Amino acid sequence: MKVEVAIAELRKSRVALPHPFGFVPTMGYLHEGHLSLVRRARNECPSVGVSIFVNPTQFSENEDLSAYPRDLDRDLRLLEAEGVDLVWTPTSEDMYPEAYQTWVAVEQLSQPLEGLHRPGHFRGVTTVVAKLFNAIQPDKAYFGQKDAQQAVVIQRMTEDLNFPLEVVVCPTVREPDGLAMSSRNTYLDPKQREAATVLYRSLSTAVQSFEAGERDAEVLRSRMSEVLATELLARPQYVSVADPFTLEELDGPVERALFSMAVHMGKTRLIDNMVVGD
Ligand code: PAF
Repeated sequence: MKVEVAIAELRKSRVALPHPFGFVPTMGYLHEGHLSLVRRARNECPSVGVSIFVNPTQFSENEDLSAYPRDLDRDLRLLEAEGVDLVWTPTSEDMYPEAYQTWVAVEQLSQPLEGLHRPGHFRGVTTVVAKLFNAIQPDKAYFGQKDAQQAVVIQRMTEDLNFPLEVVVCPTVREPDGLAMSSRNTYLDPKQREAATVLYRSLSTAVQSFEAGERDAEVLRSRMSEVLATELLARPQYVSVADPFTLEELDGPVERALFSMAVHMGKTRLIDNMVVGD
């Protein structure tokens, strides 16, 4: 497994690898969710690359970039064990040099849901992912359904900017009690960790209601909120029933829906989602 830092070296190592080249962009502190993307890439592609870069431009001012968990040695050991060919760990100075002023924004899809509560977040994500794609030139790029809006935004960007690659969205990986895997789960104390299953319970309630025939968006939203309200440690920021493709909030009868939510558990902000319908 080659580990590159400089972009010029990364490009050289990349061109030596066979097609299709599968790519998993990450911010490190890897867990089973990331590894499931790596395994999918490994199954589908003869060569696989992973980037590890805690991207400063996707953190808002009130989000603590310096506190984001990091453990590069452990990450590299895990990736080596998965048979990854190439790891890229760019520096902030290389990605955003002093005179940097170019941004990629997916205008409408970045506005609702996470975009409302994390201004500038998706501009940072799409900019860095465009830069990563441009440097590493993948044939396939793997993202988790856990960040549902991110996946939709990146699919749009890939199409709009004619990147010659396929975006593959992989299922959310969950702990045995249903909590979606996230690097941020490590911030939870034992009580918060126990309480955090409320997101899964709330989303599952909406899915079960939909499967039992409930189609009214307002009723489905209320069912999720009712479950969240049973957990005193949970402070919901938003609870949404939206169109899975346009991300527009839905009213009235729905045929398909993205159920999603952001919930504060102490200082930790958790997100999760499930999709129903065609
Ligand atoms: O999902 C993430 O970890 C990040 O948003 C990504 C796609 C690696 C961009 O920094």
